[in-house]
Amino acid sequence: MPTNAKRLNIDQISRSVKCGKIHYFDSIDSTNSWLLKHGQCGDICISETQSAGRGRRGNTWLSSNNGNIYFSICWCFDEMTEYWSLLGLVTAIAISEALNDIGLSGHGIKWPNDIFWNEKKLGGILLETTNQSGKVIIGIGLNISFSSDMSDEIEQEITSISEAMDYKDISRNHLVLHIIQRLQKKLSTFKSLDFDDFVKTWRVWDILQNRRVHFYHQGLKVSGKVVKIDRHGRLGLLKESGKLCFYSSADIKLTTLGDSR
Ligand code: BTN
Repeated sequence: MPTNAKRLNIDQISRSVKCGKIHYFDSIDSTNSWLLKHGQCGDICISETQSAGRGRRGNTWLSSNNGNIYFSICWCFDEMTEYWSLLGLVTAIAISEALNDIGLSGHGIKWPNDIFWNEKKLGGILLETTNQSGKVIIGIGLNISFSSDMSDEIEQEITSISEAMDYKDISRNHLVLHIIQRLQKKLSTFKSLDFDDFVKTWRVWDILQNRRVHFYHQGLKVSGKVVKIDRHGRLGLLKESGKLCFYSSADIKLTTLGDSR
C-alpha cells in the first residue's frame, strides 16, 4: 500500500465507468500478467504496487511505494483493423488527453508511446497480445511522485506528475477515471479510425516532430529529422541525404534526441 498517497477509490471508479470487472490489489506481480492469465474482455486490473512490473523490450518496470499508477485493461476487438499497429499511439494520446483533463500542461508523447514532460519520462505503455484473436492487454504505468530509490536503477531521466504540476495535490482517482474513459472511447471506435484525424491529433502531442534524433538500427547509427508517422505507426525520418526512411518501434530503441528543431 502506498505510504504517502490515498488508496484508489475503486467504488467510485466502478460507478463512473462501464467496463468488465475491476480487479484491485494492494500488490501483485504485474497487472498485465494478471490479465493475461485471468482477464475477460473489458476487465481492468489495478494494483497499488507491482513486484514484477514489466516494461517494453523486456525491461523491468520498477514499483515504488509512492502511489504511482499501475493498471491494465483487457480489450477484445471483434474484427482486425489495418491500423492495428497504431493502438499504442492511440493509447498514448488518450493518456495525454487525460493528463490535460486534470490540469497538466507541457507534456507530450515520445514516439512510439512514452509519455514525457520536460524531456523526461513520466509514464509508459506495454501492449501485449494474447492467444485469443483480437484480445489485447494494455498496461499503463505513470509516475505520480518521484522516489529517489528508483532513480539509481533507471537508465533514463524520469519525472513525475507531481513534479510537473508543482507538487500540487492531484487526485489519482480522477486521473485513472479520465484515462479509462478516454481510452474506452477510443478503443470502441478504433475499427473506424480515420487516419487523417489520427495524424492531426498525433501532431498535438508528438514531441519529436521536426527534431533530429539518433539511434542504432541493425548495428548502424542512424540520424535524421522526424517528419512524419505512417499508417503502420512507423517513424518517418528525413536523412541528410534527403532520403525519407521509415522505422518501426520493433526495430529501434530511440534514446537520443538531437538539439536542433
Ligand atoms: C515502458 O517500458 O515504457 C512500458 C511500461 C509499462 C508499465 C505498466 S505498469 C502496469 C502494467 N503492468 C506491467 O507489468 N507493465 C505495465
